Amino acid sequence: MELKDAVAVVTGANRGLGRHLAAQLMARGVKVYAAARRPETVDLPGAVPLRLDLTDAESIRGAARTASDATLLVNNAGISTGTPLIAGDLDAVRLEMEVNFFGPLAVTRAFAPVIESNDGGAVLNVLSVLSWLHPAGLGSYATAKAAAWALTGAVREELAPRGIAVTALHVGYMDTDMAAGVPAEQKADPAEVAAQALSGIETGLPEILADDVTRHVKQSLAAAPNAG
Ligand SMILES: NC(=O)c1ccc[n+]([C@@H]2O[C@H](COP(=O)([O-])OP(=O)(O)OC[C@H]3O[C@@H](n4cnc5c(N)ncnc54)[C@H](OP(=O)(O)O)[C@@H]3O)[C@@H](O)[C@H]2O)c1
Repeated sequence: MELKDAVAVVTGANRGLGRHLAAQLMARGVKVYAAARRPETVDLPGAVPLRLDLTDAESIRGAARTASDATLLVNNAGISTGTPLIAGDLDAVRLEMEVNFFGPLAVTRAFAPVIESNDGGAVLNVLSVLSWLHPAGLGSYATAKAAAWALTGAVREELAPRGIAVTALHVGYMDTDMAAGVPAEQKADPAEVAAQALSGIETGLPEILADDVTRHVKQSLAAAPNAG
């Protein structure tokens, strides 16, 4: 889609990758609804703060009513609790599915009719290399991101006839709060990842692989499990 006339809703726009995406969209002249569960934490001059908590269905419906001119939805917000599936707390596993899978699904269901009524547009789902690589210590996060990858494929097919393109963004570690404990040399620059995401939306790519580790893992998928 052409970004210059787009009206974007970015979830989790108050920090991390979402803030970069929102700022770069605004730099291109796009009207941006900066969605956050605490809109008072949005510090992007020119953006329209929008309350949206992925675990609160009414806030999602309210956001879709307010941002009725939206043509681009960026499902960016997410959590990583570092919960293993067997030894970990089952409530944390459920929360990760709520925020990383059911939340973006609910937001997409709420915004699809809005984008369609505005003559179509696009959805970007921020996923992870862990949609494909499933380390034990991050089992619940990887499971939720794998489910969100499957969601992205199915929703792409479902929304195409309604004039809505769906793009997946996959990336390894990025230098944001979520990966605060990871050594700097292993992390991608979120500003660079955001720039790749926006050009991928413009080109209409179904999938953006934003760093070397992600490209390597995607290529290795045909190999035996754990073959690296
Ligand atoms: N950082 C990485 O290494 C990495 C790698 C691959 C993929 N990703 C993905 O990239 C996306 C952005 O993550 P990030 O790295 O920017 O992480 P981050 O800095 O931790 O930011 C997470 C964002 O999600 C929001 N959020 C969390 N729970 C929410 C909820 N229930 N409702 C609405 N918003 C909620 C946070 O809002 P609050 O400020 O209110 O908490 C914050 O804006 C996520 O989908 C993440 O899974 C990250």
